[in-house]
Amino acid sequence: MARKIIIDTDPGQDDAVAILLALASPELQVLAITAVAGNVPLDLTAKNARKVCELAGRTDIPVYAGCDAPLKRTLVTAEHVHGKTGLDGIELPEPVMELQDMHAVDFLIHELRRHPPGTVTLCPLGPLTNIAAALTRAPDIAERIEQIVLMGGAYFEVGNVTPAAEFNIYVDPEAAAVVFAAGVPLVVMPLDVTHKVLVTHERVARFEAMGTRVGHVVASWTHFFERFDVAKYGSQGAPLHDPTVIAYLLAPALFSGRYINVEIETQGEFTQGMTVADWWRVSARAPNALFIKDVDAEGLFALLSERIGRL
Ligand code: BDR
Ligand code: CA
Repeated sequence: MARKIIIDTDPGQDDAVAILLALASPELQVLAITAVAGNVPLDLTAKNARKVCELAGRTDIPVYAGCDAPLKRTLVTAEHVHGKTGLDGIELPEPVMELQDMHAVDFLIHELRRHPPGTVTLCPLGPLTNIAAALTRAPDIAERIEQIVLMGGAYFEVGNVTPAAEFNIYVDPEAAAVVFAAGVPLVVMPLDVTHKVLVTHERVARFEAMGTRVGHVVASWTHFFERFDVAKYGSQGAPLHDPTVIAYLLAPALFSGRYINVEIETQGEFTQGMTVADWWRVSARAPNALFIKDVDAEGLFALLSERIGRL
């Protein structure tokens, strides 16, 4: 039976590739996509999520709009990385799919209560605002979640938006603190792993060589994304962050990490949004997350290309 997931996201080209990977994979049943403000404001992330569903021919996937700002802070966005629309690189048609009427936070609570406990996995690919709001309003849902597999944070790679913090956690650290303290089985894809998943020229070319519409769109997005990150990191290609979450669900053997304690810094003068990961197990704090560090990147791209090729 396919594993039931809800993707909570702020598309974003890498979010979009993650959504496509999930929609192309019969092992997963995408119950819904919930949009959150992050890379770009909510009206754009909610629109982009529908554009991606339509690109995949999946107008049956319900898309809900959620929180338009972090729990306690002013929204910080990342147009400098993702472009003005959040999905710059190629123009997609305006979506005809409608947004669902319900707020994403209400939907998350309702949907988790509707399913048997431990049967729905959440896949957050952006700031954790929607998930934290749902957990705060309805603490009973915590024990109903099978797992949360999220992209966010960093330990060895430290930060990408400040010297100490990764974007998704930095945008809403209070929300991240709620999620990391919720007692839900947590798998974290930090920069430590996503910085090993680089879209090199050869990998972009592989998408293009599929000769399909979706392959061309993915090549255009990853090529666009690249211009910023290569300039920034001087690496061979841009990190493709969010697809690691979906790839983990499909092929966990590609990844390795440690089950450790991770706390979120919400107060620090220079370190707000830092994921304080006890990698060396030097504190007495109880482990709360499987914190991933390594990946078979070639295996991940083989999986991704094979699945994108199906669309
Ligand atoms: C994360 O921030 C966003 O820009 C990406 O979509 C990814 O989720 C990486 O720090
Ligand atoms: Ca994202």
